Amino acid sequence: MAEFILYETDGAVATITINRPKALNALNSQVLDELDATLDAIDLDTIRCVILTGAGEKSFVAGADIGEMSTLTKAEGEAFGKKGNDVFRKLETLPVPVIAAVNGFALGGGCEISMSCDIRICSANAMFGQPEVGLGITPGFGGTQRLARTVGVGIAKQLIYSARNIKAEEAYRIGLVNAVHETQEDLMAAAKKLAQTIAANAPIAVRNCKKAINDGLQVDIDEGLVIEEKLFGACFETEDQKAGMGNFLAPKEEKKKVVDFQNK
Ligand code: CAA
Repeated sequence: MAEFILYETDGAVATITINRPKALNALNSQVLDELDATLDAIDLDTIRCVILTGAGEKSFVAGADIGEMSTLTKAEGEAFGKKGNDVFRKLETLPVPVIAAVNGFALGGGCEISMSCDIRICSANAMFGQPEVGLGITPGFGGTQRLARTVGVGIAKQLIYSARNIKAEEAYRIGLVNAVHETQEDLMAAAKKLAQTIAANAPIAVRNCKKAINDGLQVDIDEGLVIEEKLFGACFETEDQKAGMGNFLAPKEEKKKVVDFQNK
């Protein structure tokens, strides 16, 4: 049983909650290990979209655990960075989409874990930032890499070098989040609605879209288009492709509003 991670499912949607509210859900080694094990255990035959959030009303994740990091040697620091990076990369490359529902603080490792998710939405009390240089370290769970890829180099450098935290509206303006919802309740309702919308679409196609976008971003456009062609081609002959196109082409009176995709 995990101490710091809650895992719940509702049909094809899973919710992972980082549950260490006394420390504002800060990521220590145990939280990272439990998150890693939780990701490994997701039943990908049934789960089609995941929501990641933080327990309590105040914080999504307030960063890596500063107490744990405070006494690390250079080698231990590097190993801790790799530990976080490995788990976050697993999250990023999870075959199904992950929505970060950011309630409150998303600082340091919290901002970084949200950027490993496919989509970020937040509540009005959210605060994002990479405060590491104020602590004498660099961002270490992917922030130097993903922030620039997410909001552009200039803004990323300014945020990281200045260690300035930003509120929800600014995060929205720079494209770090897709939407701001008034309350945490609204946020979770919106996350569930979006997750259910995604989960109702053809699952093999959704997974292939995620892979095409993620893998394509790592290569030049010509290679990226080949990646797309292969994943596009791989959708054909699936039952879901036949069901989706069959429904479109069916006579009006036989058309279903919602196709029951089977992930096959
Ligand atoms: N690590 C360890 N403990 C943390 C923590 C963190 N990152 N963030 C908060 N906590 C703990 C506090 O120590 C406090 O514990 P106690 O009650 O035992 O004292 C508890 O959570 C509540 O925090 P505060 O009393 O500080 O709450 P606040 O409302 O006054 O302030 C805050 C909230 C502004 C988020 C403040 O807690 C804060 O600045 N936290 C640190 C944020 C930060 O710098 N994050 C980056 C960490 S470095 C990193 O993540 C490196 C990397 O890239 C891998």
